[in-house]
Amino acid sequence: MTYTFRTLACAGAFFAFSAPAMAQTEIKLGYALAEDSHYGVAAKTFEEVLKAETGDAFTVTHFPSSGLGGEREVIEGLQIGTIEATIVSSGTLANFVPETGVFDIPFLFNGFDHARAVLDGPIGQGILAKFDNVGLHGLAWGEQGFRHITNNRNAIHTPADVAGLKIRTMENPVHLAAFNAMGAAPTPMAWPEVISSLQQGVIDGQENPLSVIVSVKLNEVQKYLTLSGHVYSPAMLLVSKPFWDGLTDDQKAAFDKAATAAAAAMRGYVDNVETTGVETLKERGMEVNALSTEEKAAFQSSIASAYEDYYGTYGKDLVESIVNFE
Ligand code: PAF
Repeated sequence: MTYTFRTLACAGAFFAFSAPAMAQTEIKLGYALAEDSHYGVAAKTFEEVLKAETGDAFTVTHFPSSGLGGEREVIEGLQIGTIEATIVSSGTLANFVPETGVFDIPFLFNGFDHARAVLDGPIGQGILAKFDNVGLHGLAWGEQGFRHITNNRNAIHTPADVAGLKIRTMENPVHLAAFNAMGAAPTPMAWPEVISSLQQGVIDGQENPLSVIVSVKLNEVQKYLTLSGHVYSPAMLLVSKPFWDGLTDDQKAAFDKAATAAAAAMRGYVDNVETTGVETLKERGMEVNALSTEEKAAFQSSIASAYEDYYGTYGKDLVESIVNFE
């Protein structure tokens, strides 16, 4: 058999295009919640868009429900390059890029539009860029929603109602300072221990947005839900910096596109659960109350001393530029 130059050139082109497909790169994507949560929906969107953009170059393996460990462990895995990607709450990220903690300050944002505008604007994007200095690469901000308190002891209307309440917080100094100032007994704990600790009565309560309370079915272990909205909870889609540095520019552009779509899907899920979540939880038997404006103001006053610490840590100018951001 004889081969023309054209045949050989075509064969060469075929192998050149098919080579990356043969060398498929696995992306282990870990997250704390189930596949039908806001994190799961974002992870699926990320996978779909990445596939549409890069064909078979990458395969995304999902590890939902803390399948690769707690959020802190997973982020450490990204830093050393044993895990490629994760979706996590900002509450954990403050341990890696301390400036992220500014978004965890209670009563900082006046609603979703305000929070999303800050994250998508220069302040949020500036903090996202800092992850490159600590072995990580922040792709996009997503969100969980505003955090609310659940517990098994009593309905909450005033700071006196949280006095001595053993409430699990994230391992985050900003949250801890706020609950200490309110007079509660905060217990920082990694998420994978929370459900069993609630079941065993080691803690009375916890705080998380409706997206988490509904998708985890916290109603099975908690009686009271107080819509306190005390903290807005951003989330982030992150990749390992060693992994990111190995990508081509075209691949990086595809990851950015996939992450932007994933973040939009996460916000879409949150928008939906914000309108349906309270009814769902009532139907599942939770006793729900919303803080009135006056009740919320009393909680804000109760953490005035913590605010002095926040100004010291993050700078009053930064905090005020977030509060006044338009
Ligand atoms: O409370 C937490 O630790 C986080 O909100 C969670 C549920 C792990 C999601 O990131």
